[in-house]
Amino acid sequence: MTITAQSLYEKLRHYRVGSPLCEFTEEHCARMLPYIEKIEQLKQEKNAIILAHNYVAPEVLFSVADYTGDSYGLSKKARQSDADVIVFVAVRFMAETAKILNPEKTVLDPNPNGGCSLADSINAGIVKQLRREYPDHTFVCYINTTADVKAECDVCVTSSNVYKIIEAIENDKIYFLPDKLMAQNVIDFLKEKGSSKQIDFYDGTCYVHEEYEAGSIDFIRKNNEGVEILVHPECSPPVVGKADYVGSTTGMLEHVRESKSDSFFLLTECGLTGILQTEYPEKQFVGSCTMCRYMKSNCLTHIASTLEQPLPENIVNIAPEVQQRALACVDRMFHYAGR
Ligand code: 13P
Ligand code: SF4
Repeated sequence: MTITAQSLYEKLRHYRVGSPLCEFTEEHCARMLPYIEKIEQLKQEKNAIILAHNYVAPEVLFSVADYTGDSYGLSKKARQSDADVIVFVAVRFMAETAKILNPEKTVLDPNPNGGCSLADSINAGIVKQLRREYPDHTFVCYINTTADVKAECDVCVTSSNVYKIIEAIENDKIYFLPDKLMAQNVIDFLKEKGSSKQIDFYDGTCYVHEEYEAGSIDFIRKNNEGVEILVHPECSPPVVGKADYVGSTTGMLEHVRESKSDSFFLLTECGLTGILQTEYPEKQFVGSCTMCRYMKSNCLTHIASTLEQPLPENIVNIAPEVQQRALACVDRMFHYAGR
């Protein structure tokens, strides 16, 4: 369906995250339209698709994105795609994962600031050293890692399957990297199940999710009867311990879509609350969220210029030897996840 300024405004007018000055107007949507039309035309010409993570700006999610989702869902889409070009609107490690899965395709990353505090906390040299220190351990990496790091690990996981995969791994000795809070949440989960697995872990954190405190959940519950609390597993164990639902970004969206409650507090990046405000303007989203400066660096102008004439830094390249070993690590995730 062709997008017009009015149809885009209809979708975005209930978006309330950030300052009231940032609310979308019809004039604002009209100014974005030439970029949207340009991107649509370039997608046709180049047989390209756009995959966009749930956290990126809503004008991208609700206009040019062909698929939106969490890191697992988008990896599956990248794996299944028959497009010649994949534009990955998210952060660098996600675009790299698409390239690991599709070495023969052109994968473009339009984000000039595509870091991630987790992916940036560790490199392949550190993993090689850790493997010498923990020779009997299975090395499990969160998808929020570079291709170089994945190439040194045994199994990749995402927030949607980390508990299930670590529980299913045959070895009782696991080294998990780089998210120490997610590792502690896995330890609590396994303890509750009576598992004897030993989990050692690295010291990284997500700078967005580590900020949340359990006290704010108590405050919100006290002042909002019936509120449902949804938490991403990158949050600390005391926060996860107070949640009604813990899951990936897509898991949280689906949980709200299925819930009968009228009020929610999502302890995660602001993008999720924004998506839900556009879908359920009559529901209440309480508490504050936090922006990820990396995800929010994506914009329509960068997508258009990247598709038209990518700069060398927009083209994702991975050395074939690294790609093959990283692919083995990611493929084991698909094997354990069973879908
Ligand atoms: P999801 O896989 O749940 O979308 O998480 C990705 C991420 O970076 C969360 O901070
Ligand atoms: Fe990385 Fe955190 Fe941003 Fe997710 S929210 S991309 S983990 S910095």
